Amino acid sequence: MKPGFDVSESQKPYMDVPVFPQEGPIHLDEILGRGRPLELEIGFGKGHFIIERALYRPEATILGIETRRKWVHLAESRAQKRAVGNVVVRHGDARALLKRMQPDRCFERVFINFPDPWWKAKHAKRMVVTQELGRDLVRLLVRGGEIMIQTDVDFRADAYLEELSAVEELEPLGQGGRVEENPFRARSLREIRCEELGMPVYRILFVRK
Ligand SMILES: C[S@@+](CC[C@H](N)C(=O)[O-])C[C@H]1O[C@@H](n2cnc3c(N)ncnc32)[C@H](O)[C@@H]1O
Repeated sequence: MKPGFDVSESQKPYMDVPVFPQEGPIHLDEILGRGRPLELEIGFGKGHFIIERALYRPEATILGIETRRKWVHLAESRAQKRAVGNVVVRHGDARALLKRMQPDRCFERVFINFPDPWWKAKHAKRMVVTQELGRDLVRLLVRGGEIMIQTDVDFRADAYLEELSAVEELEPLGQGGRVEENPFRARSLREIRCEELGMPVYRILFVRK
């Protein structure tokens, strides 16, 4: 078994997807190297956005965290096939991993595309975008760093705005935190599907003061 890979899941498919160390601080500059701009996508799914973004910003490293092993495996394979060397993917729950990441103020941008596809009240504890996540991101974002969230669920967009507006160090951009367009030259699969179907996409943009 290669070091850095998750042994406890060895009986499951996609056992070899990359993971961070199981405990203790996650020193991103030791893992990803120093000196390059760093961006993060939480919940990259099949990897469309992260790969397009990496192609658009070859000078930056784009880190992706995803809870589904299958998508980690798929995105990594796609990046390799397209020879995209500046995508780094890791399996895990971003909410827990962010708390262990070092150093502070390392990310220029954080993207969260179509999170929280759960509807029932009992699933509320799984929500990704919360005030707590906002505070964890504030620690990790550079001054002037941005958070973009996209969703096709109008009441979730309202909830995200409320959660992030409660974080003092975050300032809403656009119209009270809402923007019409995705300015980042990369689209997620769900975003592409919504646009094909003519469905609205609600976009939220905050900057770290
Ligand atoms: C509705 S899908 C959207 C996938 C992709 N971002 C898109 O827009 O097409 C939400 C994704 O977030 C992932 N996810 C949910 N909670 C997560 C968490 N706490 N940490 C990392 N990934 C998470 C899910 O596994 C899933 O792939």
